[in-house]
Amino acid sequence: MLKKALELPGIYQAFQEAGGFFGARVKAQSEFLDIRPGMQVIDIGCGPGHIAKFMPEGVDYVGFDIDRSYIDHANRRFGNRGRFFCQFFDAAAARQFGPADIVMMNGVLHHIGDDELGDTLRNVREALRPGGLLFTLDGCYRQGQSAFRRWMLDNDRGRFVRDEAGYRQVLAPVFETVELHIRENYSRVPYTFVVGVSARTT
Ligand SMILES: C[S@@+](CC[C@H](N)C(=O)[O-])C[C@H]1O[C@@H](n2cnc3c(N)ncnc32)[C@H](O)[C@@H]1O
Repeated sequence: MLKKALELPGIYQAFQEAGGFFGARVKAQSEFLDIRPGMQVIDIGCGPGHIAKFMPEGVDYVGFDIDRSYIDHANRRFGNRGRFFCQFFDAAAARQFGPADIVMMNGVLHHIGDDELGDTLRNVREALRPGGLLFTLDGCYRQGQSAFRRWMLDNDRGRFVRDEAGYRQVLAPVFETVELHIRENYSRVPYTFVVGVSARTT
């Protein structure tokens, strides 16, 4: 019932904000990224697009999602801050919209199984300029985490919540460097996040 309601952009965003999950994205972005005017940012799985509000003036922001209602909402609310496309981020999109300084996948890796994710990450790499970064944020299993945090992950809409080793296993074959950081103090509702910063160096 809640999972169905979360398909509605307004309900999804209200849930994200009430739980502090949207704030977690903003905190992670400010802790790990230095987004400056003139940069090109691609956001894959952008959802209703609210993160566009946190892009500095002068950033070229492009969001992609496969959900039509999320993209319609994003275009209505934030069409003046970026461009939003209802399409799968494939090799053609990587060629068309790259080279980017930063690709973001906020809450997306845990929705995609290893094989498909491998293909998507290779397209992400193609879309990055040398020196560019992939920024990811996902729920993460961790030994010793509270039963409530584990329950939250078990009941996520995403069917591929991994532990830190599982995320590394999909990122490391594609990117030259992969840093993963566990954070458990980002949201109002107790939750274990892993923030990934993966670089294309060449
Ligand atoms: C949990 S939502 C995250 C939305 C937003 N990034 C946020 O931070 O709130 C995951 C989004 O990824 C999108 N998604 C899942 N697989 C995708 C794919 N292969 N390509 C593009 N979007 C995808 C879903 O439609 C969904 O909107």
